[in-house]
Amino acid sequence: MERYDRMRTLVVYYSLEGNTRFIAETISRSINGDILELKPEKDVPSKGFFKFVLGGKQVVFKECPKLKTLEKSIEDYDMIFLGSPVWAGTFAPAFNTFFSKKKIENKKIALFCCYGGQSGKIFGNLRKYLAKSTVVGEIGFKEPLKNDKELNKSRAEKWAKNIMK
Ligand SMILES: Cc1cc2nc3c(=O)[nH]c(=O)nc-3n(C[C@H](O)[C@H](O)[C@H](O)COP(=O)(O)O)c2cc1C
Repeated sequence: MERYDRMRTLVVYYSLEGNTRFIAETISRSINGDILELKPEKDVPSKGFFKFVLGGKQVVFKECPKLKTLEKSIEDYDMIFLGSPVWAGTFAPAFNTFFSKKKIENKKIALFCCYGGQSGKIFGNLRKYLAKSTVVGEIGFKEPLKNDKELNKSRAEKWAKNIMK
């Protein structure tokens, strides 16, 4: 058995259009971890320009969209991969809700994001909520479903396995 099989690992993510889901599923498969999707009860539309207006508004007003019941408990895990798309230069508002409900302490954390142009301040802003844990890595993917899907998949696998060594 490889070493990383012994640590209880969870991949937590939010995704509106599937890119972050693709990376999250790739990571969880490659390291044999559990996976937890943050799903707002009512999400912004995933198509058209209106998603930027509504999503951007949620970021600016630091909204906490109500999430569907979380099916995993982070207390059960030692290592957590956290992934979000970049929205208005930071993480998606589903994580506002997540951080308001969950204390993340004494964990190892690895951060990943998907972005269209630049990753902005997402990692710095996520780290503010993770001060009582140890962030052991971060990586960004430029819209992996549109750009070199296979290359991004193997980047994600290598990165995740390396983190777990
Ligand atoms: C509301 C909203 C705001 C966004 N803001 C940014 C941004 O500030 N910078 C950026 O590079 N991409 C931005 N994007 C693009 C997404 O980060 C990118 O398409 C990402 O791959 C989407 O991930 P997903 O498919 O998991 O939802 C934004 C997308 C949305 C919907």
